[in-house]
Amino acid sequence: METDRFHGLTGSIELFLLCQNTFTEPSTFRSIERTIKVIREKRRNGRASAMALPRSVFRDETILLPEYLPHQIPHREAQLKKLELYFQSVAQSATKASQNVMITGPNGSGKTMIAKKLLFESLQRKAALYGNLVKVLLVNCRIDRTLQAIMVKALKSLGQNYPTRGYSFEELLTALVEELRSNRIHLVIAFDEVDHLVLSDPSSLYTITRLREMAPGSQVLSSILISKTTDYLKKVDLSTLSSLQWNEISLDSYPSDHLVDIIASRSEAFNDGCLDDDTIEFAADVAGLYGDARYALELVYRAGKLADDSESPRVLPEHIRAAKASLPPQLRKEELAYLTTHQKLLLMAISTLLKKGGSTYVTIGEVEKSYSALCESMSVSAYKHTQVWSDVNELSRKGIIETQLSGKGMRGRTTMIGLSLVSAKELMGELEKGMVADVRA
Ligand SMILES: Nc1ncnc2c1ncn2[C@@H]1O[C@H](COP(=O)(O)OP(=O)(O)O)[C@@H](O)[C@H]1O
Ligand SMILES: [Mg+2]
Repeated sequence: METDRFHGLTGSIELFLLCQNTFTEPSTFRSIERTIKVIREKRRNGRASAMALPRSVFRDETILLPEYLPHQIPHREAQLKKLELYFQSVAQSATKASQNVMITGPNGSGKTMIAKKLLFESLQRKAALYGNLVKVLLVNCRIDRTLQAIMVKALKSLGQNYPTRGYSFEELLTALVEELRSNRIHLVIAFDEVDHLVLSDPSSLYTITRLREMAPGSQVLSSILISKTTDYLKKVDLSTLSSLQWNEISLDSYPSDHLVDIIASRSEAFNDGCLDDDTIEFAADVAGLYGDARYALELVYRAGKLADDSESPRVLPEHIRAAKASLPPQLRKEELAYLTTHQKLLLMAISTLLKKGGSTYVTIGEVEKSYSALCESMSVSAYKHTQVWSDVNELSRKGIIETQLSGKGMRGRTTMIGLSLVSAKELMGELEKGMVADVRA
């Protein structure tokens, strides 16, 4: 930009001087000629240096975006293989076999990615080799929150346009099954973030489990359920649970050394020499706190942008640090595992109050009351005020909660407690998992 502006400016001066020289004395003319020579020289140099330096550290930044489907998937090859094996029978005998698989794992553990690799890269091709027609649909249940909307999408993917309103779920399903059966198509639907669908409509899971029985005598539908945990199953009645004969692939969060390989596998996003191994390792260490590949890639992407902004030819650790500061911090899930039972009970009380009240802060008095009630309901004897106080301080020191003194509006001054890193809902979900086992022990 700077150089372009410089060129524009020197260009205008040059033109101005050229116009002027018709009216000037020979000596002045020579001096103008010299000036023009100097300007031309500067322009040539400017162009040369602009050419030698890449304008950006990026060669192709889209490679770092979450939508990009990578060729290499370090540390997930085995899990993808497993997924492909589950669907081998569908590829081979699409009208006779169907499959239901659950993929679980924390944020950024590669769930959506391996589902996409199966759906868009291997399954249809493999089915075609066996002379079968398999089609695929990936829906995000945070966006398509009803089975009805998903049926409309499925029909649309087969070229059948149905309005989003006006047909019942059963009518749409019948139309879909008929369409699939008459064209000998097997459709695999992946329900990403399925917990959202099940929470807004608990019976939907039951329906999904029964999809494979919809077309008597032939198999036309398979499904993949993707979610962070299987907690949503708790809300489901027993008969549905017992009919859930799903294969499960569960993914772990990535340790730092895996993240090094993942970032390195996407480093063709950068021009040669713009992203050193040391910087990759540093970024992986930072992201290793969360074990989240999406975070790791976003960190490197933002660091690249910051390097460009500061006209640095390479991404430096300082850019990673600045990128980290610009990203919202996340809660280290493992951190919760190291808390004492009472600290977890306190956190549970805090998040329940915050969620119920929809407020940013609650008072320590309210927290103590709610904590005592929670202890009682779990037959645990509650700690006294001093111990509660020290646990609150400990949680605050760990950065899980935020404390501050109330302002003038309240009678006296009291400590107000809020959550700094996660939503109350998310925290409750995480705590529920560990706590019951904890209290029993
Ligand atoms: N093993 C891996 N190799 C390369 N990229 C990966 C790997 N795992 C995850 N990613 C990338 O990290 C990002 C998040 O992965 P995603 O599958 O969306 O996570 P989630 O488990 O939250 O669905 C995507 O950009 C994905 O391509
Ligand atoms: Mg996902």
